[in-house]
Amino acid sequence: MPLSVVILAAGQGKRMKSELPKVLQPLAGRPLLAHVVATARALGPEAIHVVHGHGAGEVRAAIAGGDIRWALQAEQKGTGHAVAQAMPGVPDGHAVLVLYGDVPLIRAGTLRDLVARAGPKSLALLSARLADPAGYGRVVRDASGLVTRVVEERDASPAERAIAEINTGVLAAPAARLRGWLGALRADNAQGEYYLTDCIRAAVQDGCAVEAVVAATPAEVLGVNDKVQLAEAEAAHRANRAAELMRAGVTVVDPTRLDVRGEVACGRDVVLDVNVILEGKVRLGDRVKVGANCVLRDCEIGDDSVVQLNSLVEGSVAGRHCVIGPFARLRPGNRLADGVHVGNFVEVKNSELGAGSKANHLTYLGDSTVGAQVNVGAGTVTCNYDGANKHRTTIGDGAFIGSGTMLVAPVSVGEGATIGAGSTITKPAPAGKLTVERSRQVTVAGWKRPEKAPK
Ligand code: UD1
Ligand code: CA
Repeated sequence: MPLSVVILAAGQGKRMKSELPKVLQPLAGRPLLAHVVATARALGPEAIHVVHGHGAGEVRAAIAGGDIRWALQAEQKGTGHAVAQAMPGVPDGHAVLVLYGDVPLIRAGTLRDLVARAGPKSLALLSARLADPAGYGRVVRDASGLVTRVVEERDASPAERAIAEINTGVLAAPAARLRGWLGALRADNAQGEYYLTDCIRAAVQDGCAVEAVVAATPAEVLGVNDKVQLAEAEAAHRANRAAELMRAGVTVVDPTRLDVRGEVACGRDVVLDVNVILEGKVRLGDRVKVGANCVLRDCEIGDDSVVQLNSLVEGSVAGRHCVIGPFARLRPGNRLADGVHVGNFVEVKNSELGAGSKANHLTYLGDSTVGAQVNVGAGTVTCNYDGANKHRTTIGDGAFIGSGTMLVAPVSVGEGATIGAGSTITKPAPAGKLTVERSRQVTVAGWKRPEKAPK
């Protein structure tokens, strides 16, 4: 059956005690809802409907994608009422998969399995066995083990409360029948809400096959209601992502101290030290080592390169055998060729550095084109900003920039040129020559240090 996904995301999330709607609380740097939408997309459905209400404008603005169909639930009257808001857009022949904006770790594989069990006359719900089922709806089965209904905790008898199998809320059902069941819901329960879960009993009465699939791990169905659960979900996500990398052969020094928040591709024998954060699209070549406390965001690091401790690398591409850091900052727009060294307290932005070039200490290179085998001395600054506009600095192959040089852009230094230390370069420095801009050093004969006047 073609698939329509309905994601419930209308709740306020009072227990978050936050101005931000619950489904926009960040997990691994992205809104909770964005994780669920990404998982829904992985199923390749015909449509994704998001039922939203609290912070509607904010929620719509935060979640990208023209493929999402937004259904507004102005007043939160229960999960059944919420699903009903999306049903006008769902054709009868579809299977409907109900997901939750605050259950972010659900895996696509689990959902595929669930959807495969839903048919024109069958419904599948996802359950879990919890050591402490308090607060959840319980899955009630008859003597032969068949599901008969789901009962909410507040409506449950003491015997039902003792049931350890809980309803995760996630279910897959045939659209035509679901429409009918939802239409017949009544809010005659402890909370005065229209419960989606009452559709289970209706399905049984309708002669549908109802199957409860038990989730492999409770972590996957963890619902996030407060900041404690948000941190639990973050920890579970962190562990999952670190495990993926380790299974792919990456050495992770401490999986509890690695945060993967984006798409990471690693070559062989990559080593990630503690407190590394990988964000956006990150590609690491073979034998790349990343030292402690590094943040890598949207970057590509070539084979055998090292990012040493406390470095921040963003929007940059580095070749092979590069050494970056310790304490380096690569801002967006850099291309480092093979064998480039960018050392401690060096900031590089929107610059190209040719093969084997080195800027090892205390330097700023912004908007510059640096050739191959250039040595940039300590304390060199490209003065790229005149207060209004940015200008480029060009340095030819094999140039040597003495320490403490100011390169006032736009300016160029020729191939093989040498710049004397402490120069402020404002005009082109010719190739192959020594250029120095500095007042002459004098030693004053007969000069005496002032002495304190006697008291
Ligand atoms: C629901 C289930 C319960 C299950 C639990 C799992 C029902 C009646 N109960 O209970 O069996 O064990 O989830 O976490 O379905 N929402 C809306 N609009 C509404 C109401 C809710 O969008 O009118 C959204 C909420 O934002 C939330 C989700 O649906 O993301 C679940 O709603 P909530 O009220 O938290 O249901 P529970 O009481 O937890
Ligand atoms: Ca809930």
